[in-house]
Amino acid sequence: MSLLDHPFDPDRDTALVTGAGNGIGRAIANALVGEGVRTVFADVSEERVTNAIAGAPRPELAIPWLGDLALRAERDRLLADAATALGIVTHFVHSASPPRRESDHALAVSDDTWTAMREVNVDAGFQLSRGLARKLIAAKRPGSFLILTSLHAGTPRNLPHYSTSKAALTMLVKELAKTLGRFGIRVNALVPGAIVAGGFVADPGMVRHVPLGRLGRAEDLAPMALAVLSDRVSAYVTGTSIVVDGGISLTNWFDPPALGDL
Ligand SMILES: NC(=O)c1ccc[n+]([C@@H]2O[C@H](COP(=O)([O-])OP(=O)(O)OC[C@H]3O[C@@H](n4cnc5c(N)ncnc54)[C@H](O)[C@@H]3O)[C@@H](O)[C@H]2O)c1
Repeated sequence: MSLLDHPFDPDRDTALVTGAGNGIGRAIANALVGEGVRTVFADVSEERVTNAIAGAPRPELAIPWLGDLALRAERDRLLADAATALGIVTHFVHSASPPRRESDHALAVSDDTWTAMREVNVDAGFQLSRGLARKLIAAKRPGSFLILTSLHAGTPRNLPHYSTSKAALTMLVKELAKTLGRFGIRVNALVPGAIVAGGFVADPGMVRHVPLGRLGRAEDLAPMALAVLSDRVSAYVTGTSIVVDGGISLTNWFDPPALGDL
């Protein structure tokens, strides 16, 4: 059998993907069910989840879940519902993130927008990871978690609520990886570049900054996500950030924001 055959064990592996209704989360959730892994598709949008599952390669393996991950009670409900549907969740992907608006620069972003970004990205990432890890530890099972961060964890994006939350997630990955490694739970970050998905409206001129000559697609992230999630392929990989960006991080392409009337 080739090393890359059967990256998952459909009899034992199960997955929860947040933000599975669209973009990168949807591409990863689709790829997981395509590998035979029963997967909870969690998202705030019913229409998106319905469409994502309808287009999945094996929709019978997809379990829809609707809720707002900005709310702590909803995050608790997701943990409970995932346990009911799947028993133990062995693979977790955190891709949900509120929409980004270019007008939300440092002098404009509202308190509510700031808080919602932190709640969905950081608080949900922590609470869900810890809740799932506790179950895995109690069951003496290994696991693998993958958190979507950003190149803007390290360079400003003119969106301070977004970049600071992604920087926090980058450290959360390291904290969790260090604590959970002894239990066989791996935690890594996946770092997309400029990916044309719902969360990012790309200026077509940006392509000149991409050494591989095109903007990314959500489907560009899925194979690497599966590789890092798979214990067969990546058993000795934890606490790291894996960049999938066509090389755009070799340049620095965002101009300072237009501030308008102050
Ligand atoms: N697209 C890019 O270029 C890019 C670049 C760097 C990082 N990322 C990161 O990758 C991840 C996915 O990005 P994308 O472009 O595919 O995003 P997207 O907007 O296409 O998808 C995000 C999904 O999250 C869901 N969501 C939003 N708020 C939610 C909430 N409160 N509760 C539950 N679900 C909620 C949305 O409904 C949507 O389906 C994000 O974490 C993003 O920050 C994306």
